[in-house]
Amino acid sequence: MTAQYLRIPLGRAFVAEFPNGETRVRIEENVRGLDVFLVQSVCSPVDTSLMQLLIMIDAVKRASADRITAVIPYFGYARQEKKMVGREPISAKLVANILAVAGADRILTMDLHAPAIEGFFDIPVDHLRAAGLLAKQVQTLELEDAVVGSPDAGGVARAEDFSRRLGASDLFVVFKRRDTPDDVTPLHLVGDVTGRTAIIIDDIISTGQSLITAADSLLKEGAKEVHACAVHADFTQAVVDKLESSRISSVLVTDTIPIHKQRASSSKIKVCSTAQIFAETISRIHGHESVSALFS
Ligand code: R5P
Repeated sequence: MTAQYLRIPLGRAFVAEFPNGETRVRIEENVRGLDVFLVQSVCSPVDTSLMQLLIMIDAVKRASADRITAVIPYFGYARQEKKMVGREPISAKLVANILAVAGADRILTMDLHAPAIEGFFDIPVDHLRAAGLLAKQVQTLELEDAVVGSPDAGGVARAEDFSRRLGASDLFVVFKRRDTPDDVTPLHLVGDVTGRTAIIIDDIISTGQSLITAADSLLKEGAKEVHACAVHADFTQAVVDKLESSRISSVLVTDTIPIHKQRASSSKIKVCSTAQIFAETISRIHGHESVSALFS
């Protein structure tokens, strides 16, 4: 889709696996002296996606491309961006390092799990936000007396920004405790949602537990209905089924991670395309134009 917006054909490449599972790549056209954009989300199968991207950067670099931009709509390995306890890695920093070592000259991405990850790179990073796209889509639902909030304390700034975009008043936050990926306990809800339409905004849906737990708390505290929005749909069919049978009325996500098959089986999940904003940004990077207007 992004290439279609740019009205250019996709570059030709052979991507396969050796019998032992190693990623095998060959670029099948001349890239010497070209401004190359490699588009790959680091999503499931995450390690394979990452290795394909790294190996492709290496191939393009060795084929004498002039500049290589890694376009990573969903930047995986971002959730371990700081040590919570001793002897943990900072995987986001490791991935930033290896992308640069592989030969990426710049990064274009969307809604990093933590904005500070941008600073893990010593090469330029263009960090797009999906909030504008999602807010436009939510406005078409014409939800009355809406109140926006976050399913955890870490997402308050995102929720404040989203609320402002929707012209909504007030804010809610569901404080949660997570013991295992599937075990999310709501601790308490801050904000008055009685009789109102609650809109939860999050960056990622993975197991769906954060959203479902938050929605149950909001409904218990008197919310009329609950809608959810998230940028990255990092989920499986089982999670789609879980969201489908949850008390959430609608779930809006973007296509930074391909979810075509799962979406087909869901009446609640709607997908907002990011192709145009990525195409516009690529075009501006290539033309050495400002991209800051696209960040808002
Ligand atoms: C947490 O810090 C993130 O912002 C998301 O709330 C979390 O990754 C969602 O994961 P899940 O869908 O598994 O609850």
